Amino acid sequence: MRFSELGTRLAGQSGINALMADLGQALAASAEHAPLMLGGGNPAHIPAMERVWEERMKEIISDPAVLRRTLAIYDPPRGNPGCIEALAELLRREFGWPVGPENIAVTPGGQTAFFLLFNLFAGPMPEGIATGDKGRILFPLMPEYIGYADQALTPDSFTALKPTIEITGAHRFKYGIDFDNLRVNTDIRALCVSRPTNPSGNVITDAEMNHLAEFAAQHDLPLIVDNAYGLPFPGILFDEVSPLWTKQTIHVMSLSKFGLPGTRTAFVVGPPEVAAAIASMTAITGLANGNFGQAIAGPLIQSGAITRLSKEVIRPYYLAKREKALAAMDEFFPEEAPYYVHESGGAMFLWLWIKGSKRSSKVIYEALKKRGVLVVPGEYFFFGLEDQDWPHRHECLRISFAMDDEDVREGIRIIADELFGG
Ligand SMILES: Cc1ncc(COP(=O)(O)O)c(C=O)c1O
Repeated sequence: MRFSELGTRLAGQSGINALMADLGQALAASAEHAPLMLGGGNPAHIPAMERVWEERMKEIISDPAVLRRTLAIYDPPRGNPGCIEALAELLRREFGWPVGPENIAVTPGGQTAFFLLFNLFAGPMPEGIATGDKGRILFPLMPEYIGYADQALTPDSFTALKPTIEITGAHRFKYGIDFDNLRVNTDIRALCVSRPTNPSGNVITDAEMNHLAEFAAQHDLPLIVDNAYGLPFPGILFDEVSPLWTKQTIHVMSLSKFGLPGTRTAFVVGPPEVAAAIASMTAITGLANGNFGQAIAGPLIQSGAITRLSKEVIRPYYLAKREKALAAMDEFFPEEAPYYVHESGGAMFLWLWIKGSKRSSKVIYEALKKRGVLVVPGEYFFFGLEDQDWPHRHECLRISFAMDDEDVREGIRIIADELFGG
């Protein structure tokens, strides 16, 4: 049996695969002593949301026509027409975006949406196979979501820009887009940002977003915005910012952090030719999407309950957890220690920068794992950068605060002891 070059790459070690396997093994290894899981990106199990799922499941099961639609019928590749129309209507009503069903396509989760989008824009161009014309994706603000790093089918398709770093308080900092150094060569075919950003919890400001959109328009480039933690759902945003729609923007909205990662459902909202392309790619790769996520969330989208629940249940829930995690840091981290936490504008992580750390974040991660605390080493989130020697990329840890408050507090106590104790 021989794998192709592409097969070898996809089947081999990727950052995200190594990370998931590593975390899984760590969990299995310490079965009697369950580790404090401050590593993963799994959303919290929020009781009020679990009641919503229960209610929706009962409604689905009690109506034979709906049950049949959900279990026994292929949707069109673009997704369920009713659910797509409901989302278009919600985006028109709540954001004033001029969108219709032709702007939307469903995918099996955001992860697949990015795989499809990146490969739609990156790689050899149709007319360029012979000439070597090749498209690439630019990430204007590193660090970015590790899950993107290995998604391009053509190697060397990603490039990225280092951020500006502003110290914003005694132990606080914030990344910004370095517009002075934002340039594109002719090979750049799309820009991509997550807002809020995984891993840092950074929220690109409205001013930065407008600037980025102008830049994208000037160069006629799509601007892909990953709203996995943002608007309109799950709305885990602690900073007040506005969603942006232009002719260039392509938004990805996932149901995962709204609480439904098991349904693998996301929406791509962009220009009609992009939505149509995603639908075609879905037909080729999977015929259709799973129906369950759309069946559960469709009526919530239609009634607007999805944004109400995001604002009234999900956002306050994570905000309270963030406050407790930050309070634990203040309590356990020595005042004089050289650490900075990224301004937490959204998502479910604290991003810790140990300035001048003698140990790399991978070494710290291993040491913490031995002590029963799982975090994610920062190295993984700096991909596509030319400056491999930038010390900052080895000095950061991602700490999730989605899990039980007591576990998060105890984890932070151990992290403080590992870094600065004795
Ligand atoms: C920033 C970001 N984008 C996309 C995803 C993909 O999530 P899903 O495929 O579950 O929608 C994640 C998952 O953690 C994420 O953090």
